[in-house]
Amino acid sequence: MTSISGFGLGLRTEHYRDFAEQRPAGVDWLEVISENYMVGGGKPLHYLDAIRRDVPMVMHGVSLSIGSADALDLGYLCSLKALAQRIEPAWISDHLCWTGVDHHNLHDLLPMPYTEAALRHLVTRVQQVQDVLGRRLLLENVSSYVAFNGDEMSEWEFIAELARRADCELLLDVNNVYVSSVNHGFDAHRFIDAMPKNRVRQIHLAGHEDHGDYLVDTHDHPVCDAVWQLYAYTVRQLGAVPTMIERDDHIPPLAELLGELDIARRVQARSLSSLTETIAA
Ligand SMILES: [Fe+2]
Repeated sequence: MTSISGFGLGLRTEHYRDFAEQRPAGVDWLEVISENYMVGGGKPLHYLDAIRRDVPMVMHGVSLSIGSADALDLGYLCSLKALAQRIEPAWISDHLCWTGVDHHNLHDLLPMPYTEAALRHLVTRVQQVQDVLGRRLLLENVSSYVAFNGDEMSEWEFIAELARRADCELLLDVNNVYVSSVNHGFDAHRFIDAMPKNRVRQIHLAGHEDHGDYLVDTHDHPVCDAVWQLYAYTVRQLGAVPTMIERDDHIPPLAELLGELDIARRVQARSLSSLTETIAA
């Protein structure tokens, strides 16, 4: 299995040629959207194979719908496993959410009710997925705009408990934590503090849209100052977790994203050195 560290980007069609023709300095690994390559052939798969020869990869899915009441889609899981055998990713992630019900896909990453019943439902399903894939799954916290009246615990308690019971790993999206903290009025640091250090394998950073009294997770802006500050705090709590920038709309030339990745590198280095100074003092 590939092991990765350092800083990555999401592979987007706009940058296929950049990565196929050379290996851009500063990109240690790439995250690919699994569903884009779960096909029989074509241009995306051609580029994927070519780029994978030089660059380690991780797989990130959007369709697992791990929280849904519908039965897990075994055909989907088999295709996911086949793609993993093809590109040997360091890990496979998806979102801690549900995306539809009764096989109607709502094309949105919807939050779970944070209840004991939902936890038990998820633990069984995560274990089923891990059995099929033969490896641990990473689950990512989503941004949310609504909450359930029946919630019995906080999102961060729910995630930490799920990871422990299902023995899965986590993809911590720092921007999603920030967006949800503003939308629901909680302290983002409490969320970060609750994350189990030995289970957070990857960090996402992204931009969002500010609507004044609420934020929308759009992935079409650079990372904002508040999220950089929360990332610095996260590094102090969790260490040098592999980190990437997600951009899904208004995708700029690769050089611009490489510049943003350099900021992440500097923020991480500064946080780690301030930690060393604190420990030495
Ligand atoms: Fe994310």
